[in-house]
Order: sequence, then structure tokens, then C-alpha cells
Amino acid sequence: MLKNFWYAVEFAHAVTRAPKRVTCLGQDFVLYRKRDGGVVCLSDLCAHRGAALSGGTLVDDKIACPYHGWQYEPDGACSRIPANPEGRGIPKRARVDSYPVREQYGMIWAFLGDLPEDERPPLPHFPEHDDPAFRTVYVEMVIEANYERTFENVVDAAHTPFVHGTRFGNPDKPEIPDYDVTEDEWSATADIRLSPPPAGGLWKRLYKGRPEEVVVTNGWYLPNIVKLHVRLPFGDMILYDHNVPLDRNRTLVKIVGYRNFFTGKWADSDARKRIRSILLQDKVVVETQRPELLPYDLPGELHLRSDALQVAYRRRRQKLMADGWWLGEHEELPVNGKRGSATVIPSPARRENPELARAWQHRPRGAGRQGGDPVPLDRTVTEGESE
Ligand code: FES
Ligand SMILES: [Fe+2]
Repeated sequence: MLKNFWYAVEFAHAVTRAPKRVTCLGQDFVLYRKRDGGVVCLSDLCAHRGAALSGGTLVDDKIACPYHGWQYEPDGACSRIPANPEGRGIPKRARVDSYPVREQYGMIWAFLGDLPEDERPPLPHFPEHDDPAFRTVYVEMVIEANYERTFENVVDAAHTPFVHGTRFGNPDKPEIPDYDVTEDEWSATADIRLSPPPAGGLWKRLYKGRPEEVVVTNGWYLPNIVKLHVRLPFGDMILYDHNVPLDRNRTLVKIVGYRNFFTGKWADSDARKRIRSILLQDKVVVETQRPELLPYDLPGELHLRSDALQVAYRRRRQKLMADGWWLGEHEELPVNGKRGSATVIPSPARRENPELARAWQHRPRGAGRQGGDPVPLDRTVTEGESE
């Protein structure tokens, strides 16, 4: 799991004046809206006795812990301790991490890391969002698998005839013609020629024929987003698939889907149903994959030319691991186990305010070892080498 990225942690319409707990990277956060509509994201771990702030209530723009009523400002500093008699000061360490937030593309994005603003990776650009020709639907589903498995699944064109045979992919034509990957520091994309299945359901009414091939633009944006642009004979469908790591073994897939055909509200439930049925087909297979976690080095699995987008991801990920952006597996909060201490992803304030250096109750994750697990950078293979 990678820190120092913007993570789309919730749909914007789901965040209100009622505190909401969300989970990402094995850590809980509380989200709420201030009176001016801006969104706050705090570590959901009270600095006093570790109760979940998300169970508390809002007092103006502050959140009050449900246990002893400490009140935290949007920047994470505690400004009121009800048990203290009048005039008693508030300890410096009475503060929680507050994470930068952006609201974009109908999603709430939290920056989970401590990089200063000018060093943060960019948010991806979803050009369809501001185009009135497109209609949007939102879909989500929990998959009991690691997020890198669900992420790679969506950039994997070769599985479509087998896993989605009747819906998306043609079992009679499973070959993937070689494709070129265009890469930059934060993303990779490719135009892949696929043979489509015949149209079904609602779509069949619009189009009776079957084109020889369709060009699907597929690609990823770090840390966890996959774009899938399917050009249908009657319009475009573009999915942005966010693979939110709840913890090491569970992923919340959040999809923002755009289409420029059947743009009436009446077709939304059909669009959601199609996305859900494709996700359910993937879920069955992805939950069986072993090892559950992606191997840390490339030779850990076999790669073909048709896996080039995945190989590009794995190479980029290795580099980020070597740069210390990986949250070591040993440090993650256990799912079912108990632990004697809690750690949190460090927020930018830890670096920006040196005078607060010791003002944190909870230890930062990733502090123990540089980058967590060791990464043998020299052990790489060329894509297609293992064919
Ligand atoms: S645990 Fe939050 S105020 Fe005591
Ligand atoms: Fe799939």
C-alpha cells in the first residue's frame, strides 16, 4: 500500500454534516462537512483514549469525541477538554492528524501522506466529468481480495473472454494483438483491440450488428485507479475504477461511470446493473488468487506481452517502494487481531511544523523501516521473457 497519494475515499454525495467513518490503507478516518460545505478528514483515533471520533457529534466546525467530549478543530488540534476546570491549558499532544482534502469528480479525495503541497502527485484528469454530453452513475462493491489484485484485474484485457464471455469479450477470439503502452510518472495507458460479444438487453434495441473489433482504451493512474474507455457502436462508456484498500485483504471498489448514450435518468439502473454484473464476475476469480498479495519482485509471476500494462505498474511500484512510499505490511493495523499500540499515516503538519515534532500521541506508520519490506530492485525481467 502506497502513502503520499490522493485517495478517493468516498462519493461526495455521501459526506454531510453527519460524521462518516471511512477506511483506507488499513486506517480509519472521519469525514464531515464544515458549515461552508468544505470537507474535513481527520484520523478517526482520539488522542485521549483512542475512541472513534466518527461516533461523535459536530459542534460548529469541530468534532466532539463521543467518549469524554474532547473537541477537535478541522486542523486536528484539540480546543476543548470538558473535564478540565476553567483556565487549565490543553496539552500540545492533544491533536490528531488532519489530511488535505479535495472534492473533485463527485468524489472526496484525501491526501494520505506527509508531502508538502508542491511535491504531491496530481489528481488524474477525468475530462468527461465537465462534458454535458455525459451522464454519470456511481457504483460500489466490496471484494475480499487485495487492492492490487482487483486493480490489475481491470487493466487485464486477456481475461475478458473467459470471465466476461457473454457481456464483454468474445470467447471465439481471445487473442490480444500487441499494444503500445504510453507512460508518464503517474499513469500508463494503451489502446487495445478487442473482439466484442453481440449486444444484449437494452443495448440490443439500439444496435443489431456486431463490429469486427472495438478499441478499448485502458490504463492506470497511481495509486489505485483504472480507466476503461469502451467505444460501443452507439456511444462511449468510460469507467473510472477506484480500488480503495480497506486493509490488506479487502478492497472497496468505487466506480464512477460515464456514458453519452441513453443519457436519461431512466437508463441509470441498467448502467449500474451492467457494471455490477461485470464486477461480480471478476470478484469470483480475483478472490481465489494466490498469493493474495502481489509479489514484490517481477519474476514472482509469469508475464506475457498481453500483460504489459500490469508489468508497467509493477515496475513503477518497485521504484516507489525503493523510495520509501510503501507502508510496510508488518505495520498495518490487524483486521481481527488486537494490538498494544496504534499507528497512523503521518499528515503534512508533522513535517510542516517542526515545533510540533513531539506533539503527536500516535506514532507514524512507516517510521520503523524505510519503505517497509525489502525490494530487490535488481531482480527484474523483461516483459514477455517468461513466455
Ligand atoms: S477517548 Fe476521546 S475524549 Fe477520551
Ligand atoms: Fe474483469
